[in-house]
Amino acid sequence: MKLVSKFSEGLHGEIKIPGDKSISHRALICSSISDGTSKISNLQESEDVINTLKSLEQLGVNIIKENESYYIEGRGFKGLKAPENELYFGNSGTGIRLISGLLSIQNFSSSLIGDESLSKRPMKRIIDPLSKMGANISGTKENTLPLLITPSKKINGINYKMPVASAQVKSAILFASLGARGDTKIIEKSISRDHTERMFKYFGANISFSETETILKETDKFTSQNIEIPGDFSSSAFFIVAALISKNSDITLREVGMNPSRIALLNKLMEMGGNIQVFNHSSFGKEPIADLNIKSSVLNPCEVTPGDVPNLIDELPILFIASCFAEGTSSFIDIEELKHKESDRLKAMQDGLDKMKIKNSWNGNVFCIEGLGKDYKSPYFLAETDYDHRIAMSFAIAGLNSDSSIEIASPECINTSFPEFIELGKKLGCNFEIS
Ligand code: S3P
Repeated sequence: MKLVSKFSEGLHGEIKIPGDKSISHRALICSSISDGTSKISNLQESEDVINTLKSLEQLGVNIIKENESYYIEGRGFKGLKAPENELYFGNSGTGIRLISGLLSIQNFSSSLIGDESLSKRPMKRIIDPLSKMGANISGTKENTLPLLITPSKKINGINYKMPVASAQVKSAILFASLGARGDTKIIEKSISRDHTERMFKYFGANISFSETETILKETDKFTSQNIEIPGDFSSSAFFIVAALISKNSDITLREVGMNPSRIALLNKLMEMGGNIQVFNHSSFGKEPIADLNIKSSVLNPCEVTPGDVPNLIDELPILFIASCFAEGTSSFIDIEELKHKESDRLKAMQDGLDKMKIKNSWNGNVFCIEGLGKDYKSPYFLAETDYDHRIAMSFAIAGLNSDSSIEIASPECINTSFPEFIELGKKLGCNFEIS
């Protein structure tokens, strides 16, 4: 199967973006360990999130879907049941890393596996802090999957300085801390997304957090909640850039998550000259939301500095595409983490940009893209995706402004985070075809 993304005349209309992936994982996990039944609305129904849901069911959690909402019967922090089989997390680093923290405090053993891409991703970053807390967790000798977690006599809170800015690692530690003796303090060099902290607070945890410091005091239970999930900002990012770079576009995206630790892309695109209006500010639980209106714009190049990176890490591939349509050189410093995502995203994007005939360079620290301005059109090519959803969607958006089309290999990978991407894109006027 291939996705053909053809030149499109201009995007118009209004859509509601499906639920946020990061928040969906956390909503499912926190509900599963609360006391009572929680209700989740607008859960992201992607492969990644459904794999987390199925793993929680294997751990004894009763989950029912009724009228588009999910009802989860919580079992308390330590009330999960031993799974009969290995737990499978597909493509999802978030699912496996967060649940590893939680499984570290259970009194049974579990084995955690994933697809080919997840099986190659680094797990030392969670094995180290969880082991320091007293957890029994191990991977292969290269610290990759499968992960084996066996019961531990005692888990202690930890005072941890994070070597890499990672919300997944921070969250694994926070979930393990729910069964720990003593408090946990986590210090980060750069700000990573704080959805776990906000969700813990919503469920009644004794937690305080500022930009780079999180303190979780001993907490003995979560109280069940009703959770409405905001639209996924990272999914929205593809259509935001699509509207900016396609002439005569004017689109509106409703109820998009506006968590400050997630929206650096928005600020960057506005600095570049993007015509983006943010309005109808409101909130779902502890998460801010708003509506966005985006119109075609003439873009200037951007400069991404190290402090920006964790906040727009998932949006870098689509920001690279936006930079192709800016007049001049954009630069991106310290984006090495891109190599450890669902694929080596730096390499995948370099390969695609070369095929787009966009000059780019990487000197081991700074990545540069020489944008060709608003009238640039990509030549036809086949974009390899390495089965990475964000690579596939980035080149699909580039295709809308091509001189004929761009073909995308293995577009099924888009289902890992945004199964509605093609249908919603078509609704806005994206000329997408499956062949
Ligand atoms: C996520 C954190 C980020 C992000 C990923 C989702 C999360 O990863 O790239 O898509 O939900 O916590 P890191 O924790 O590796 O930075």
